Amino acid sequence: MPKTILFDSYKLGSLTIKNRVVMAPMTRNRSPNNVPDHLVAEYYGQRAEAGLIITEGTSPSANGLGYARIPGLFNEEHVKAWHAVTNKVHAGKSHIFVQLMHCGRASHPDNLPAKAKIIAPSAIALGQDIWTDTKGNQPAPVPEAMSEKDIEDTIHEFVKSAELAVKSGFDGVEIHGANGYLVDQFLNTASNQRTDRWGGTIENRARFPIEIARQMAKKIGPEKVGIRLSPYGAFNSTQPDAEMDRLYEYLAKELNKLGIVYIHVVDHSSMGAPAVPDSVKKVIRENFKGTYILSGGYDKEKAEADLEAKRGDIVAFGRPFISNPRLVSKMLEDAPLTPADQTTFYTPGPKGFTDYPVN
Ligand SMILES: Cc1cc2nc3c(=O)[nH]c(=O)nc-3n(C[C@H](O)[C@H](O)[C@H](O)COP(=O)(O)O)c2cc1C
Repeated sequence: MPKTILFDSYKLGSLTIKNRVVMAPMTRNRSPNNVPDHLVAEYYGQRAEAGLIITEGTSPSANGLGYARIPGLFNEEHVKAWHAVTNKVHAGKSHIFVQLMHCGRASHPDNLPAKAKIIAPSAIALGQDIWTDTKGNQPAPVPEAMSEKDIEDTIHEFVKSAELAVKSGFDGVEIHGANGYLVDQFLNTASNQRTDRWGGTIENRARFPIEIARQMAKKIGPEKVGIRLSPYGAFNSTQPDAEMDRLYEYLAKELNKLGIVYIHVVDHSSMGAPAVPDSVKKVIRENFKGTYILSGGYDKEKAEADLEAKRGDIVAFGRPFISNPRLVSKMLEDAPLTPADQTTFYTPGPKGFTDYPVN
């Protein structure tokens, strides 16, 4: 089998990753009390053939823990637990970024520790149910609109968490700016109706992610900071607006100035979401000189074609990695892929998590 571009090594900032296959961030809800247990380390260790692993969404603060059993990264217990994960991945000669996801209004009090609060740019409810282990699906409540101090504190939490990520052995941090979580709640007009410097114009709505990226890059180095974005996404009640191409053009330009290592662009049309126009993907590609990560509905052939056409530099695979720990070998050998069992995507325990065949 001739080795093709997907299996070439790639220079990602100061790292050399062994191939252009990225494991996409996927929430798996296997962290009781928000602490990743040994199964989580085993799971990522099994997938260390990937050039780069991006972890499941991980909260930088108590307020951001909107879903049941998602991991956090804001105290020493978390650092210790994540260290076991990064050790396993590095032992497999892979690299790993942690995705920092603050759920914002996509949350329910039963999923939060005592004293944590549900905050968002504006007091507009998600309009959807959230799973709780206590009462099943429950409507997401109206969030508290963030004060100027809440915003500053939250930016600080992201930066602090990035420092803890480095301490945990992570090679970098991905800011989750996609899919309708807190950062995207600032970007999107459906969830941000503020009239201060954090809402309204494109520049104001983009201020939150840019400030996080700027302060993080200053603290841990721009080559350790990436961001995920989902222009024209519909997940978590986000909506497109007439200025969307211009918003992402502005963001790409500003993030380029900061010199962060990558932008990771989500296209969930393969999951039934609206198509993401080529125009916005082009705008990001043209204005951001760092690495562009493609994602959404990729198989080997589509990945090769998009890499050859220079639409992106490396390619993230999500669902195929759940059920094929050795996805890279399988693609290299053109072996058939095991389908993923959706019923165990978010359930606790090893079933559908660490028990897929590893050879
Ligand atoms: C079970 C599951 C959990 C996911 N959790 C996250 C997440 O925590 N953060 C994120 O940015 N995307 C998340 N996604 C989206 C994936 O990263 C990816 O974009 C999506 O699955 C499309 O890629 P695929 O067609 O290769 O699966 C999740 C997807 C799945 C299937």
